[in-house]
Amino acid sequence: MKLLQIDASPRQDSVSRQLTSLFAANWKQQVPGGQVVHRDLANSPLGLVTDDWIRGAHSNPDQHTAAHRSALQYSDKLIEELQTADVVVIGDPMHNFTISTRLKAWLDQVVRFGKTFSYGESGPKGLVSGKKAYVLTSRGGAYPAGTPYAQFDFQEPYLRHILGFIGLTDVTFIHAENQGKPDLAVAAKAAAIQRIKSAVAV
Ligand SMILES: Cc1cc2nc3c(=O)[nH]c(=O)nc-3n(C[C@H](O)[C@H](O)[C@H](O)COP(=O)(O)O)c2cc1C
Repeated sequence: MKLLQIDASPRQDSVSRQLTSLFAANWKQQVPGGQVVHRDLANSPLGLVTDDWIRGAHSNPDQHTAAHRSALQYSDKLIEELQTADVVVIGDPMHNFTISTRLKAWLDQVVRFGKTFSYGESGPKGLVSGKKAYVLTSRGGAYPAGTPYAQFDFQEPYLRHILGFIGLTDVTFIHAENQGKPDLAVAAKAAAIQRIKSAVAV
């Protein structure tokens, strides 16, 4: 069994990183011999989509130039990491009400026609199947359903949509909210940790 752990926070003492590493440690206890592949998006070179990337991704591989192949190398690697994982855990800080830049860059690399999605007669079809995903976020504020603040959460709805688009439909979100509020942060993080422990134990 393989767990793909993705971290996107640029912060050393990041809360979302604490959550993903706790998740991975608990998962390893539950799955003896399980392998954790760690994709740290803040501490490794980050690829961005370029003109060669787009031309290569939308053309016949038999006609690829060296520049196309080189531009797609990073994407190929990230897709291989995703496709070979049994479980995926993503740690993402909320930045400006949505996902962080690095996670968006990762998505731009892995959401690729013919590799992770295709178009059939009934519309788009995700090609990443049979995996369970967990998204562990950290936020300065709180956006609970049923409150006026919920409409400002562009992180969970977007991630649900884009992960579902590539076939990751079994996704559990766990948020450590109120991390910017000293009087609430500790209890909110403890609640998220408890939810993670329960989720991994299932
Ligand atoms: C650039 C930036 C933008 C942020 N924007 C928001 C925001 O829109 N809403 C929010 O609740 N918190 C926001 N925060 C607070 C972070 O979500 C919070 O510090 C969280 O713990 C970050 O996750 P991390 O600890 O894993 O880095 C922002 C923080 C930064 C640095």
